[in-house]
Amino acid sequence: MRILLMGPPGAGKGTQAEQLTEILNIPHISTGDMFRKAIKEQTELGKKAKAYMDKGELVPDEVTVGIVEDRIKEDDCADGFLLDGFPRTVNQADALGKMLGNLGIKLDSVINVEVPFEELIGRLAGRRICKSCGATYHMIFNPPEVEGVCDKCGGELYQRDDDTEETAKNRLEVYEKQTAPLLEYYENTGLLVSVNGNQSMEQVLKDILKVLGK
Ligand code: AP5
Ligand code: MG
Ligand code: ZN
Repeated sequence: MRILLMGPPGAGKGTQAEQLTEILNIPHISTGDMFRKAIKEQTELGKKAKAYMDKGELVPDEVTVGIVEDRIKEDDCADGFLLDGFPRTVNQADALGKMLGNLGIKLDSVINVEVPFEELIGRLAGRRICKSCGATYHMIFNPPEVEGVCDKCGGELYQRDDDTEETAKNRLEVYEKQTAPLLEYYENTGLLVSVNGNQSMEQVLKDILKVLGK
């Protein structure tokens, strides 16, 4: 199954992707996670991406499209994948369409997780991530059992550099301008289904699985 998960920053794409990819047994392809890993490892890609990410701007399409193209050609993607945070511009969506066409495959579903804008800043500001396994928490909505410690692996929790209020606000603006137009793009393909992301994480997961016929 080839799925595209869309939604503004803080909508819960990563949270849902963690569960969905386990249930569906497909790889989770998050361009944001790939960039964060590259920054941590101080690779050339990381150096290119960091300046944009720190400001909450999009990394240029030519950089982003290349890493996704390489990733979806890997063996573990042969039977499906879940894209989270890509595409984010019409240009990227066109590039994805070409890539898939060249591989002779198609998307099965595009899911848009909808959350009212006023909820998003609070979700981003309270988010914490595990340094070791990447699991996502929220200080109020999904706290770990022991403060600062991952329930799953005991790793240390940290706050993303771009979750400061100023950068988060800019990310939301960038989303409105550059990414929201993609909803119409995928609406026109007949693949887009919106799910109410302003419910419990469990209910959002159930709703997405229902859309996928699972
Ligand atoms: P990326 O990492 O993709 O960030 P984003 O799109 O801003 O999305 P987030 O990861 O912030 O939100 P999410 O929807 O995953 O929410 P989450 O599940 O964590 O991108 C980061 C940067 O990388 C970009 O700004 C850009 O610079 C660059 N980049 C990435 N892709 C790119 C591309 N294609 N092109 C160009 N540049 C690119 O949940 C958020 C919080 O809410 C968590 O604390 C969670 O616990 C909580 N939560 C989740 N669900 C619920 C719920 N139902 N109820 C209550 N709380 C909830
Ligand atoms: Mg995410
Ligand atoms: Zn962990």
